[in-house]
Amino acid sequence: MKSLRCILAYPKILPSRLFHGFYKNNHVRCFATSSSVQFPIQRVGIDANEEFIQVKYQNGETESFPWHFLQDNCTCPECFHTASQSRTKRMTTLDLSKSVKSASVTDNETAVKLTWSDGHEGTFSEEWLKARSFSKANQNFRRTGFRDEPELVRSNYPIRRLDFQEVLQDDAKLLCCLKDLCKIGVVILENARKEVGQLKELANKIGFIRTTHYGNEFTVQSIPDAVNLAYTSTALTVHTDLPYYVSPPGVQALHCIKQFYGEADKNLGGESHLVDGFIVAHHMKENYPELYETLCNTPVEFYDIGEDYTKFYKIHHSPTFVTSPSTGNLTRIVYSNQQLSSYLPIDLHKAKLLYRAMKCFTDLCYHENYLMRFKLCEGEVLIFDNWRFLHGRSEFDPSKGERHLEGCYFDWDEVISRVRVLEN
Ligand SMILES: [Fe+2]
Ligand SMILES: [Zn+2]
Repeated sequence: MKSLRCILAYPKILPSRLFHGFYKNNHVRCFATSSSVQFPIQRVGIDANEEFIQVKYQNGETESFPWHFLQDNCTCPECFHTASQSRTKRMTTLDLSKSVKSASVTDNETAVKLTWSDGHEGTFSEEWLKARSFSKANQNFRRTGFRDEPELVRSNYPIRRLDFQEVLQDDAKLLCCLKDLCKIGVVILENARKEVGQLKELANKIGFIRTTHYGNEFTVQSIPDAVNLAYTSTALTVHTDLPYYVSPPGVQALHCIKQFYGEADKNLGGESHLVDGFIVAHHMKENYPELYETLCNTPVEFYDIGEDYTKFYKIHHSPTFVTSPSTGNLTRIVYSNQQLSSYLPIDLHKAKLLYRAMKCFTDLCYHENYLMRFKLCEGEVLIFDNWRFLHGRSEFDPSKGERHLEGCYFDWDEVISRVRVLEN
């Protein structure tokens, strides 16, 4: 009964369990139950400076945990609300003068029981403690998802093709699709019905669509009086979509309903272009470091004004290469030749270098080693990482045939969350 009480006091699904499998490294262990204790505890002590408790496991490993951290994260029902997976203890009531009066091993060597100086008692399971180890390695597992370790791809990369209906019906196929999207950044689904509404069905499996001022699903078709170049037949330089949003949609899906085939003997125009911006940025970092740094450090203005799903007037300043302040790693490409504003928020003496950098980046995107060129077939759905891949298309002649795509966006939050749900 004692160990049952102990389990009920802890989160039903521990975060370590939620993340298990999302990492390529198998260091993160499987969910342990009270009947399969992985790290029995030998003893627990308090350090001489009275700042940490020290847990020694039976396998010889020792881990330290700060007192303040344990007080803040007490897992008892008084301090932690299991259903919402949230602490009920407030930072305002945290007492930093409180000390650990005693620490002991309990529940058949599966937990540590602390008694605090004010008499409060809290128990921490070996699993809870192990999963929250302060070791660098453990912390990296929590941080690292597929999108943080991309596999860079060149123009000859064989994009994975999956059956659209199978992805809708089989969670294993959906998971395969989403994992490729995270890691590789692009995937193609085949055999969707050649009619609008297919993306909505896909969205229902992933989570939900990211609505923008172009609506939920948008139609890419050559139309008169278009408010976006995408809705014309002109060529589009490779770009990321919606660079004028503070947080542009992470993922884009394009469903080809009707493809442009031109004249019978010349299948020219309406070709899709796709390039892994990360590999191009990497090339620049290696070969043109000054230009790479310029694109990391120079915000430019993107804007969009008009009326579609709603009236809109968006302005956002972003560097072309967005990097993580903590790691310096590239996290996002924000680039669109057509949406680059003529209001340039930089020192005029830096314009020359900026233009050299943007030109270098764009030209490299079109290098045969990097630019994928293909023509989507009717019924195919192209899904790609809009924070990483740039896309474009070649011009086509609308008097010689139609071209009709339906598109939508997703946020990375929903996609990555769906991966974790499907894996667990
Ligand atoms: Fe686009
Ligand atoms: Zn408590």
